[in-house]
Amino acid sequence: SASLREHAAARGKFIGAALATSPLANEASYRNIASTEFSQITAENAMKWDATEPSQNQFSWSGADAIVDFATQNNQQVHGHTLVWHSQTPNWVQNLGADAMRSAMQNHIAKVVGRYASNPAVVSWDVVNEVFDDNGNMRNSFWYQKLGDSYIADAFRAARAADPDARLCINDYNVEGVNAKSTAMYNLVRSLRAQNVPVDCVGLQGHLAIQYGFPGQVQQNLQRFADLGVEVRFTEIDIRMQMPRDASKDAQQATYYSNVINACLAVTRCSGVTIWGFTDKYSWVPDTFSGQGAALIYDESYNPKPAYTAVHDALAAG
Ligand code: G3I
Repeated sequence: SASLREHAAARGKFIGAALATSPLANEASYRNIASTEFSQITAENAMKWDATEPSQNQFSWSGADAIVDFATQNNQQVHGHTLVWHSQTPNWVQNLGADAMRSAMQNHIAKVVGRYASNPAVVSWDVVNEVFDDNGNMRNSFWYQKLGDSYIADAFRAARAADPDARLCINDYNVEGVNAKSTAMYNLVRSLRAQNVPVDCVGLQGHLAIQYGFPGQVQQNLQRFADLGVEVRFTEIDIRMQMPRDASKDAQQATYYSNVINACLAVTRCSGVTIWGFTDKYSWVPDTFSGQGAALIYDESYNPKPAYTAVHDALAAG
């Protein structure tokens, strides 16, 4: 039957996957699924600061270009991830004083966004990532310590200047349902837009776990952002479980995947859903959460799981 991307296109949504450069270069099965099933690509690591500007003003494009070239060959869009984050950012950035740090941030954005500004495949960027802590306060990152919250507006303005046509997103985790952190995100986006800061889009990462339950009021949360006039999207979906897999955990995971797709389908301004990888062969989850895994829609041998069928059928319904 038809691919995920065909069904998503018929619903006016994208269906995306994060890709890693090494299997993309080395495994035909990986390339085959990535190209046929998904309409949008995010680089899992290749566009982050440590990959693109490891030393000051010395840019390294091989990984980022590989992702963009693959997407171009396969008529896919690219969502750029990520310009300003507290993680995977070289020490040289973190050691700068305030003025130099602001200039380095603006230069980084100008060069990275500028490289792809005229490339029709690259349509959007995570401009800032994870600016909140788990309570919904501003994260006390090196960015915040040196620059206060001004770095956020400055980053969006620099990105707009570098590519007036790209959708500019703020992205975070644990903001899928209505909760204190998503309300903090909502208030920040509303305030930034009231100051004409060019925030176009809100990304909800969606790193879920079946043992923690499905977040509450996801559709209402999407809708309140949409009502601010911004696009909303799921950017990094994975739904982990305590290992080993069994049929009942797979079924619950499949339900959660359908819930995510259905929430996006129900909100006009939800542009699509990206999954943080696609095969359990390559996932950050087991490295980070001991004893957990199997968070994606294909198993380690590239066989589709019940979660694949759930995504497929949710996109195909209606
Ligand atoms: O590149 C080095 C390599 O040179 C070295 O030999 C190897 C040994 O450990 O590490 C490699 O770096 C790893 C990198 O992924 C690339 O594979 C890092 O150790 C590892 O920590 C890093 O993990 C990534 C993580 O972000 C780091 O923050 C994951 O792959 C990636 O899935 C994850 O993605 C994040 C999103 O960007 C933001 N939201 C949360 C999400 C999950 O943490």
